[in-house]
Amino acid sequence: MMSGFDDHDTHHNSSAFCADPSGAIYTGEGVFLHTNVETAYGTVRATNGGFYRYSPQLHKLDRIAQLAIPNPWGIAFDQWGQPFFAETSSPDVRWMTPGTVLPRYGESTHKGVQLIEKDHMVRPTSGLEFVSSRHFPDEVQGDMLINNTIGFLGMKQHQIWDEGTGYKTKHRQDLLVSEDRNFRPVDMEFAPDGSLYLVDWHNILIGHMQHNARDPLRDHVHGRIYRITYPSRPLVTPAKIDGASIETLLDNLKLPEYRSRYRTRRELRGRKPAEVLPKLNQWLSTLDKNDPRYEHHQLEGLWVSWGLDKVDQALLKKMLQAKDYHVRAAAVEVLRFTGHQVKDQAELLMQAVKDDNSRVRLGAIVAASWIGKEKGMPILEEAQKKPLDDWMVYAHETAVAHLSDRAVKKTKEVYSTTNLKGKDFESFNLGKEIYAKEGYCITCHQADGNGLPASGFPPLSGTEWVTGSEDRLIKIILKGLMGPIEVKGKAYEGMVPMTPFEGLLKDEEVAAIATYIRNSFGNSASVVQAEKVKQIRAKLKGAKVFYQSKKLLKEHPLETKTGK
Ligand code: HEC
Repeated sequence: MMSGFDDHDTHHNSSAFCADPSGAIYTGEGVFLHTNVETAYGTVRATNGGFYRYSPQLHKLDRIAQLAIPNPWGIAFDQWGQPFFAETSSPDVRWMTPGTVLPRYGESTHKGVQLIEKDHMVRPTSGLEFVSSRHFPDEVQGDMLINNTIGFLGMKQHQIWDEGTGYKTKHRQDLLVSEDRNFRPVDMEFAPDGSLYLVDWHNILIGHMQHNARDPLRDHVHGRIYRITYPSRPLVTPAKIDGASIETLLDNLKLPEYRSRYRTRRELRGRKPAEVLPKLNQWLSTLDKNDPRYEHHQLEGLWVSWGLDKVDQALLKKMLQAKDYHVRAAAVEVLRFTGHQVKDQAELLMQAVKDDNSRVRLGAIVAASWIGKEKGMPILEEAQKKPLDDWMVYAHETAVAHLSDRAVKKTKEVYSTTNLKGKDFESFNLGKEIYAKEGYCITCHQADGNGLPASGFPPLSGTEWVTGSEDRLIKIILKGLMGPIEVKGKAYEGMVPMTPFEGLLKDEEVAAIATYIRNSFGNSASVVQAEKVKQIRAKLKGAKVFYQSKKLLKEHPLETKTGK
């Protein structure tokens, strides 16, 4: 779950948060920020994008992940307690665990594998939730839901399943699409009755603070909450939580609905440990061993003891040997954060890193990076005796480097191949650098220049918009673009505008970007000179931003249409 879409304008303080099974809060922080927080355990320092984890029981704050991400606006835990996040400014969704290696100041940890299918990559996203409700059909249980607020206005639903150490997803359907152009779905959560609640921030203005904070068009009255039901299926009877007996609360942990268990764990954390723990033991002893969910129920019990900061160590050891690897991986996660109580934490991690299952081993690798060199390094050495796949290899490399108090060796950046030489080559490289800055071209048109057609961002590869008239291209970069266009045979409505860059880029920078995109992504066209940008800038001085596509095409018709 997430909350707090406060317009792009203030989003660099991104406020996505969600509690893990112990009640520790995971929260996101956007790019460009440098943060130092005084805590009783020392100063926590962070740079650029990433996540914090705050344990209210221990008053302990960790920079749990420091990743090269723009603005995380969605965190969700699956039923096994594994964290996932949405990058928001980019269309990417990732499993967080591989990136939660001990961070190093100023360095970005490798962020792991992108999970969304190419055809359904949309941005900017906001809010993440897994389907868990008997009110909805059996086959959609566990699906991942994600909202999007520009271009595609709605909620996408993806199937997700285990694939090796990590996961794979496939788009199932667009659960919701709106034709209301101010529809900004930003957050959702399953309610106690099994229905799905959705927050629509409903605003015409969103952006990067290009609108005044007091702009009268800022909409303070149309925010809405929608409730989504499945009419042919009955609702779920809400679980009794507030004021319920401890016995009832423990039995709630068997409910299929994740959110009912989530809220129940919250309630149990507020009760007295001396009252909960004996009853928890009793409850555990009455569980039916033949129940297919037996080990999950036991895991819930372990989480309750963890949430009370009195982790049941006998149960933890049992769960580290569970039959189901999801449970073993979850137990490693518990072990990772309970070193203040579990004296043999390092020995247990050493066993876990020898596990047959690679997800369990990855958890042990990540955990080992946080327990100091002396204890952690032998575990990392042991990890190498088994294969390290794509999900593990970076986590392992980073853990070894950071425990040795050094940064991961960077592979030298390889510039794209181009035949450009001398000054032209310098300009090309400058353009490449600016292109890739967050909020510049890459955010919408993507690293490969293929854009995100599903979200209204057209491609730059193989289009005459890029390789044709220099003047037209310069005008687009300076003034932005709006209105219907056609790119590579696909119509774009032009309701999603292209950012004007006249105030952000100097003449030689505009020329550099134009040169770069005209000679990348398979394109090959003339080099653009700063002098030309200067002339066009002077001509357009004072003209309105957002070139209307109709006007631009009248001035510079597309080459194929004119037979040029
Ligand atoms: C905030 C998103 C965004 C950013 C950032 C952005 N663009 Fe665009 N761009 C768009 C959209 C949307 C359109 C299509 C507008 C329309 O439909 O009228 C577009 C259209 C274009 C086009 C014409 C159509 C095509 O696909 O060839 C070019 C060329 C272009 N952009 C280049 C750039 C360059 C170069 C940069 C960086 C300096 C950049 N854009 C940054 C969103 C963006």
